[in-house]
Amino acid sequence: MEEITLHGSRILVGERAGNLSRYLPRGRVIAITNPVVRACHAALLAPYETIEMGDGEAHKTLETVDRLAGELVARGADRDTFILGVGGGIACDVAGFVASIFMRGCPFGFVPTTLLAQVDASVGGKNGVNYRGFKNMLGVFAQPRVVLCDPGLLRTLDPRVYAAGFAEIVKAAMIADASLFEYLERHAGEAARQDAGVLERVVSVSIKIKAAIVAADERERGARRLLNLGHTFAHAIEKCSRLSHGEAVSVGLCMASRLSVRLGLMSEAERERVTGLLAALSLPARVEVPLPELFAATRADKKKSGDRLHVILPVGIGRSEARVLPFAELERLFTGLNGEV
Ligand SMILES: NC(=O)c1ccc[n+]([C@@H]2O[C@H](COP(=O)([O-])OP(=O)(O)OC[C@H]3O[C@@H](n4cnc5c(N)ncnc54)[C@H](O)[C@@H]3O)[C@@H](O)[C@H]2O)c1
Ligand SMILES: [Zn+2]
Repeated sequence: MEEITLHGSRILVGERAGNLSRYLPRGRVIAITNPVVRACHAALLAPYETIEMGDGEAHKTLETVDRLAGELVARGADRDTFILGVGGGIACDVAGFVASIFMRGCPFGFVPTTLLAQVDASVGGKNGVNYRGFKNMLGVFAQPRVVLCDPGLLRTLDPRVYAAGFAEIVKAAMIADASLFEYLERHAGEAARQDAGVLERVVSVSIKIKAAIVAADERERGARRLLNLGHTFAHAIEKCSRLSHGEAVSVGLCMASRLSVRLGLMSEAERERVTGLLAALSLPARVEVPLPELFAATRADKKKSGDRLHVILPVGIGRSEARVLPFAELERLFTGLNGEV
């Protein structure tokens, strides 16, 4: 077990979910989860009062927040109630948001139950919901008191959902850690089979990368933007396809890499290593969406500023940087970006 600290959050990697109560306050705890997670991990949730929300991105909305807040009021929750988000990135993002605004903020924590939520969504203090078709448009920065990451909870995941988490791990490696990238290349098979040692190591290294970036720039004024590598495209892909967030990030990383090759920031051999590693982890390199549609969705992304796009691009493997591209130039560069031949 390893403990990582970030702005008052205790992030416990490799701790067993059975020990959860040791890290929670003595007072009232209300868990927020969904029926799928509750069915898979009934014993974990049994000791706590539990409120359910719907499963899936379609439920990451203000309507869900409204219903959960209503439920908290009905149950007489107050500012000392500890809210525990248990589930994937969606349950954690929504639970953290509700906790942060309920009576101007209750203490909260997470037990992330997907790989993506363990390495990314539950760490860093961004909580929120989608709004009018825009991803994560409404939200707050607020740090959970505790995040318990038990790799054992991932055994019940659908293999496709499990694999999606590796997109954020590969992203972290591409941003800041060439040795993590190489480690994944050597151990992709064991990682895919949920080998406990490999999994715990990549989860903890990824969380440390994210925690170091967030510690330096909690409110995303500078360095934290690097964590959006692949995401400008991913958010567009999520709008235009049925890919999950992690799968869209995988395609987004491939698109950003192709763009970097074109701009001379990355070699073709390095780009092939990126697509090769993602493929070894069962992740997609391209998506069946017509380019004009993808381009239009990218234009509509909230990170646009006027006629220019802020995009994070990989520089070799293990480093990335922010660039601003005029849309006219991006449109020209976009040709072939989704792997078309
Ligand atoms: N806050 C952040 O910094 C941040 C970072 C990255 C991603 N996100 C957000 O995270 C969301 C994606 O999260 P996700 O990929 O975890 O999706 P998700 O929360 O939808 O979980 C995927 C599916 O797995 C199910 N599930 C969860 N745990 C399970 C378990 N242990 N066993 C069986 N089934 C289980 C869920 O019910 C769901 O059906 C997106 O909305 C994304 O925007 C947020
Ligand atoms: Zn993401």
